[in-house]
Amino acid sequence: MSTQGNINLEKDLYLRKKAEKYIPGGMWGHMSVKKLPSGYPQFFSKAKDARIWDLDGNCYLDFMCGYGPNILGYNNVEVDQAVNEQRRKLDLGNGPSALVVDLAEKIITLVDSADWALFAKNGTDATTTCLTISRAATGKKKILVATGSYHGSAPWCTPVATGVVEEDTSNLIFFEYNDLSSLEAAAEKAGTNLAGIILTAFRHDVRRDQELPKKIFLKKARDICDSKNAFLILDDVRAGFRLNRNGSWFDYGIKPDLTAFSKAIGNGYPISAVVGVEKLRKAASEIYVTGSFWCNATSMAASLKTLSIMEEKDVVAHISGLGNTLRSGIDQIASNYGVDISQSGPSQMPMVLFKDDKDFSKGSKFVQYLLNKGVYFHPWHNMFLSFAHTAEDLDFALDAVEYAMKKISTDF
Ligand SMILES: Cc1ncc(COP(=O)(O)O)c(C=O)c1O
Repeated sequence: MSTQGNINLEKDLYLRKKAEKYIPGGMWGHMSVKKLPSGYPQFFSKAKDARIWDLDGNCYLDFMCGYGPNILGYNNVEVDQAVNEQRRKLDLGNGPSALVVDLAEKIITLVDSADWALFAKNGTDATTTCLTISRAATGKKKILVATGSYHGSAPWCTPVATGVVEEDTSNLIFFEYNDLSSLEAAAEKAGTNLAGIILTAFRHDVRRDQELPKKIFLKKARDICDSKNAFLILDDVRAGFRLNRNGSWFDYGIKPDLTAFSKAIGNGYPISAVVGVEKLRKAASEIYVTGSFWCNATSMAASLKTLSIMEEKDVVAHISGLGNTLRSGIDQIASNYGVDISQSGPSQMPMVLFKDDKDFSKGSKFVQYLLNKGVYFHPWHNMFLSFAHTAEDLDFALDAVEYAMKKISTDF
């Protein structure tokens, strides 16, 4: 079979077969299309701004941004130029380039709750480091984690338990996001051994409606940490710089002690950051976390340029404005065709789910129709808008949504 729907995926399907021989399962992790409805290409050949091309030359208007990182759009000229200039001088040396200090200064200037910063590669590095700092500072073990929240793929947080041993997770206590009494009960269970509470910026778990945090819930988390000498950790890996460039809880007036960033801060170049408040500076300087590639200078150049652009231009306003247009357009189309959908969470991170669709059969069909029209949506993960998306792109996307929604209204 060389096509899926109307899309010719001949080269992609050939390579997928070959990959089965050389790569366990053909592909691992969140980028494996085996977990998605058929019709998604596994491999890509190039990307520019808001568009991405597969191996067979099919072009998609993309609403995933590489699962978040490409906040300014793919291959942003200014970011790439900064990277290329740095590459000619030094990427990975025996120590970091001077950019590490500039970058730390920049992120501290932007983020309200940051008095210091250190850098790593992936979001998992950053969230794990936050736990280590909390434990080092408190000498305590227990961390409260919301059920279903994704914090990365290390043994303590991977959502798939295969290969994970009890000891990896034995110091976690779970609660329900936005549920005050379950948070209180978890804190009670931790007793005098509470090191920290880790929370995503808002509830953005897969396969369910997104939920903004209730202010009273964040306040409760803050109060518990303060009363128990524990630390509040904001996992802003996914939402960071998309909701608010001062940190995602800035408008709530809740200040985290530690924040993990990644994804958007490098516009696609690999980098993550841990930032924290003054009282954790000592603990952060005493732990030992590092990696061969954590200090490479090109990623720092990318991040410095990305953050500078976001400082100058109101990226959040752009993507939330487009997000609102997309959301109201999709709502209008769905209602025109009598299809019940739900759109939730911040508009700049769109999530479109179908009502009465437990097995995601409607959602799966919907995204397949969109792929056929050259629009890349995700059936059960929140999506991402970028600064490179334009009003014309949304017209293109909404035309495709019109086609797909009409089909759904007759298919089901
Ligand atoms: C909220 C959140 N935390 C942590 C991570 C882990 O980041 P990474 O995949 O870069 O390790 C992710 C990745 O999607 C995430 O969304």
